[in-house]
Amino acid sequence: MPLTATPILPRFGAEITGLDITRKLSPEEVREVVATQDKWGITVWRNTGLTDEQHVEFSRNFGYLERVPRRDEAKYRLPFRELFDASNLNVDGEITTDPAAIQYRKGDRLWHTDSAFMEKRTSYSLLLAHSVPKAGGETWFADTRSAYEDLPQEMKDFLEDKVGINSLWWSRKLAGAEIPDEEIEERFRAKHPLVHTHSSGRKALFIAAHTMDVEGMDKDEGRALIKQLIEHCTQPQYVFSVKWNVGDMVIWDNLCSMHRGGEYDYSTEKRDMRRTTVREGTEPFSSIDDDPFSQLFSHIPKVVDIERGRTQAKDASIGY
Ligand SMILES: [Fe+2]
Repeated sequence: MPLTATPILPRFGAEITGLDITRKLSPEEVREVVATQDKWGITVWRNTGLTDEQHVEFSRNFGYLERVPRRDEAKYRLPFRELFDASNLNVDGEITTDPAAIQYRKGDRLWHTDSAFMEKRTSYSLLLAHSVPKAGGETWFADTRSAYEDLPQEMKDFLEDKVGINSLWWSRKLAGAEIPDEEIEERFRAKHPLVHTHSSGRKALFIAAHTMDVEGMDKDEGRALIKQLIEHCTQPQYVFSVKWNVGDMVIWDNLCSMHRGGEYDYSTEKRDMRRTTVREGTEPFSSIDDDPFSQLFSHIPKVVDIERGRTQAKDASIGY
């Protein structure tokens, strides 16, 4: 049975059926999956039956997989460093009660693109549901290609050479963490153009809750512009949500979309979501020695003020 894509919105998002992704795919099948992904930006795969190992192996078809930061003496809940932990669980698999860990997760509810704060951007994220809350906990997606195409020409011209400055700690601050701007500016920030040409050939906005400032613009004006663009992209015609069931996987392309997590009862409901993270522009199954996530956190001793919850809980994950 051939792969079938059923559109969710006319230009964005599709539910995929007809392909068993628990097994090794042929080169033709991989090309078809990637082409489908490029066309729709978000693909939803129901009831995949994927194990952790199969999730990682399937993800390698898209390129090099980033690894979660390595920390001294940290214990990991998940069996592979390629699996980022996007759950509300501690290392023992119980709902975390650590206020810092809960605070850290609040950033997930803001519109963002994964790893926009890194110099090496993330192309695809592949998120697999292992346990889901009875209510809420959906994920929302926004179409940054169509939103760009629908902008007035004068705004497109204005944005053409603009560069965003991105920081993980800025999005944490927006979510309620107390960090002075000066301290954020001492830490690593990544510069990425606000507009780029996606692999599909269509142009897209590249913005996120991590986008703190616009290079060369007055801070207030730059922040107002970022806010305006995020509001533009998240109008109803560009947005849909996915309700999860155990075994479902969603693949999103961070280079042509934004996403955010929906609310749920964080303190009583387990939500166990595991994510692989593909580096932009890398070949399938490529092997690379660098370790930028560990590097980012090891160079910043003060990271503990945000990361403390995960460290104290001996939960080494970072799902962002
Ligand atoms: Fe995310």
